[in-house]
Amino acid sequence: MQRQSYHDVLIIGSGAAGLSLALRLAEHGRIALISKGPLAEGATLYAQGGISVVLDEHDSLTSHITDTLTAGAGLCDGEAVTYCVEQARNGIQWLIDKGVPFTRETDVSGNSDYHLTREGGHSHRRIIHAADATGRAVEKTLEQQAREHPAIDIFEYHLAIDLITGRKLGLEHNHCAGAYILDLKEQTVHTFGARVVALATGGAGKVYLYTSNPDVATGDGIAMAWRAGCRVANMEFIQFHPTCLYHPRAKSFLITEAVRGEGGRLLLPNGEAFMSRFDPRGELAPRDIVARAIDHEMKRLGAECVYLDISHKPADFIKEHFPTVHARCLEFGFDMTREPVPVVPAAHYLCGGVITDLHGRTDIPGLYAIGEMACTGLHGANRIASNSLLECLVFADAAYRDILKNLETFAAPEGIPPWDESQVTDSDEEVVVSHNWNELRHFMWDYVGIVRTDKRLQRALRRCELLKQEIEDYYGNFRVTNDLIELRNLALVAELIVRSAMARKESRGLHYTLDYPRRDDSRPPHDTVLAPRHYRPSQTMPPRRTRKTVRVPGKSDSATQR
Ligand code: FAD
Ligand code: SIN
Repeated sequence: MQRQSYHDVLIIGSGAAGLSLALRLAEHGRIALISKGPLAEGATLYAQGGISVVLDEHDSLTSHITDTLTAGAGLCDGEAVTYCVEQARNGIQWLIDKGVPFTRETDVSGNSDYHLTREGGHSHRRIIHAADATGRAVEKTLEQQAREHPAIDIFEYHLAIDLITGRKLGLEHNHCAGAYILDLKEQTVHTFGARVVALATGGAGKVYLYTSNPDVATGDGIAMAWRAGCRVANMEFIQFHPTCLYHPRAKSFLITEAVRGEGGRLLLPNGEAFMSRFDPRGELAPRDIVARAIDHEMKRLGAECVYLDISHKPADFIKEHFPTVHARCLEFGFDMTREPVPVVPAAHYLCGGVITDLHGRTDIPGLYAIGEMACTGLHGANRIASNSLLECLVFADAAYRDILKNLETFAAPEGIPPWDESQVTDSDEEVVVSHNWNELRHFMWDYVGIVRTDKRLQRALRRCELLKQEIEDYYGNFRVTNDLIELRNLALVAELIVRSAMARKESRGLHYTLDYPRRDDSRPPHDTVLAPRHYRPSQTMPPRRTRKTVRVPGKSDSATQR
């Protein structure tokens, strides 16, 4: 039976971003916290290396800012970078106050302080961590507090399908009024109304065949925001993590960059080290360089993988610093204390996303986007390691402040029609959905991967368009299922990635194409901004990041009625 519920704030997604926002706002209003799986499931749970923050007396905010800007290859938004780096300490202190057990070390004089590790692109030790399972420590600590909070109503196994906006309701204003959400256990679509909606749905790694991301990373928030009328930026910048365990059953298990930070070397199958041939920073060059170097060597040698070796370090050191990675590798028969471990790159992080300002506001009044799905301007063309969890914390706090300031000005929505199922039936061909899932992830890996060309991108776009058409037909005729909703979102996000990649006629940061192998510095660097056909500039968000906007042709969204 369909239900309608009303909350002050509807938060879709319960990773570091969603949980941080929920816990902050819960002191001021009634919150609905939505998660399509168990509350803790998401990229945050699997984050290993840690969170970047300037704590060491020899480090400086300027250095963190410079490292972030350097990795971002001219596309970072300076204001967003400065803001995030300056707010990092507050964000970490908030986590410490919540009880996150970050790893400490004791020096020879018996003084104890937080241990800081090092990762690629950072010129200092500035990664605070909980051994090699930082995300788990953060997620589990915040999860427990959200579960105990009386003002947070938790809805697990609830999958948001689409946003409800004034435009779709035929109103004058286009304020976001809630979302239609599928209860996966009951298989019923409920209506969630709210004064304010915050999307915190994470990344879209599942667009690719090989990814470090969990299954929930299907770009849902980006697709929903796009269909509702939001612009996206820099979707071509997909980060491939250089070192995922190479084993058919390991599902691209990540081996943290901190292994290289603590002295791990990358080796060819013949045992030769190679990174110094590609960059003077060797193993600690930013990820795009390391991933491309590995890709290049694998293709040159026809090798299935390269190797990551830290076995020269004492076994106790390895087990203490990397208990999770050590145990997982052992499960697959590799003892990293004794031997090199086989690794390959896999899709890891989406630097682009829904355009937001420094308060997490999107193009649609009352709709916020935070965490990996947002494009705040922090990462530019390439994210430096461990800046992502930081961004989740800092922008959840910024959004919280802005929402609090404006909550009373947003009216509680009324008269939202229930989800319309009058025109649809149960699907008789689920195989179409599973087949299309596979096809999409394969061609994105083959044609829109670490190294791109115009021809490969054109091939990918043709396939995206075909798939999208097939999926929309299917969506219009059959009752929605989990797989169908995710596939619909994946196909849209894949198209946005491909179109963005096609629009960038240069190689920069994470976008590398053989047709334009150099960075084009003859013009000022520009974001790739895509706008849906029905996008209307909003008064709530200043056009800070609007440069050249490309309108993407296509039907307007079909969220409210199908
Ligand atoms: P997530 O943590 O991914 O949470 C997304 C949430 O949205 C989930 O609750 C999911 O169920 C929900 N959701 C999605 N779609 C829907 C929908 N339609 N309806 C309802 N709910 C939905 N970054 C760092 O800074 N440091 C690290 O050490 C680090 N290590 C990493 C290791 C791995 C293996 C991976 C995959 C990523 C790592 N990252 C790291 C990146 C970082 O973990 C993520 O960018 C960050 O956790 C994203 O947080 P989030 O809150 O935006 O999304
Ligand atoms: C890692 O631990 O290597 C992942 C860090 C990150 O993605 O920021």
